[in-house]
Amino acid sequence: MKTRIYVRKGRDSDRDAVFRFCEKTWSWGDYVPKVWDRWLKEENGRVFVATINGIPVGISHLSIDKPHEVWLSGARTNSNYRRMGVATAITRRCLEYAKKKGTQIVRLVTGSDNVAAKVVLQKLGFKPVAEFVEMITENITLERSKKSRWAEKNQTGAIWNYLQNSETYNRAAGLYTILYHWFSLEKEDLKRFLEEQKAIVHENEKGEVDGLTLIDNATAREWHENTMQTCYIDGDYNAALDMTRFLRSYCYGSGVKKIYGFTCNHKPITTALEELGLELPDSMEIMYEKRLSEV
Ligand SMILES: CC(C)(COP(=O)(O)OP(=O)(O)OC[C@H]1O[C@@H](n2cnc3c(N)ncnc32)[C@H](O)[C@@H]1OP(=O)(O)O)[C@@H](O)C(=O)NCCC(=O)NCCS
Repeated sequence: MKTRIYVRKGRDSDRDAVFRFCEKTWSWGDYVPKVWDRWLKEENGRVFVATINGIPVGISHLSIDKPHEVWLSGARTNSNYRRMGVATAITRRCLEYAKKKGTQIVRLVTGSDNVAAKVVLQKLGFKPVAEFVEMITENITLERSKKSRWAEKNQTGAIWNYLQNSETYNRAAGLYTILYHWFSLEKEDLKRFLEEQKAIVHENEKGEVDGLTLIDNATAREWHENTMQTCYIDGDYNAALDMTRFLRSYCYGSGVKKIYGFTCNHKPITTALEELGLELPDSMEIMYEKRLSEV
């Protein structure tokens, strides 16, 4: 007889079972226990739990980031209940929920080495649309940059026009990241980065924008470290090199000890970061998306 999988909203009482099967998700454990309480309380989010015979055996988290876009994270199936359709059932439920809420697109990332997740997603009709890498350095030094500076608030229009013709923006599927959560980079988002002084521009001889780096200190806030992350990097090799030097000098001056260099996996940029000693990881993050018109 086929096992009956039931999917419902997560509850506080699922906690012990969920924490137990998340204990050994990765060699270092899992982040789910750290975010569980917050996830359950989110206004724009929801945790779905799958049960078999009343026992919680799988979870997934959904957040509605913008009226049109949804982010999925934290898909986990108890290792004793894998290959039984649990993740498939929860993800289908997430897609139905997202559609009911009137959103249009659902995204998530998974590691390029995560065979199980990639097969599940492809079977559900998700398409890989971009690749990202996290390149880290703890070598924070004072350096000379030539053509990079903090973007001015009134540059939103010029930078936005630059992005519309940018190959990197296209390759990045128009997305930026805060921690491991990607969002569409729209004009309003860009404006916010500029207002918060979290945007570095690179300019050519004519003073035109030909590179952009967006940064955030969410890693410091969330992980209680003295660190900084790049959220988006755009430009050719020279622009990426120069902007990263500018960022490193800024970090040096403000006592930041480590930079998480998140970027789209685009050779001119990753080569520039490698040149500065940021290491390319063994695996990439693959961005998957599904348009809800297809559901
Ligand atoms: C990824 C994960 C959530 C999949 O959960 P699951 O409940 O076993 O997935 P499903 O049973 O719905 O799998 C559906 C199909 O995907 C494919 N699949 C699932 N796991 C697979 C694996 N290890 N190898 C190859 N294909 C796999 C199969 O085709 C499967 O159908 P089948 O069993 O009828 O052949 C689970 O392996 C897990 O918890 N992994 C650790 C955490 C993780 O990687 N999360 C994803 C982060 S993005």
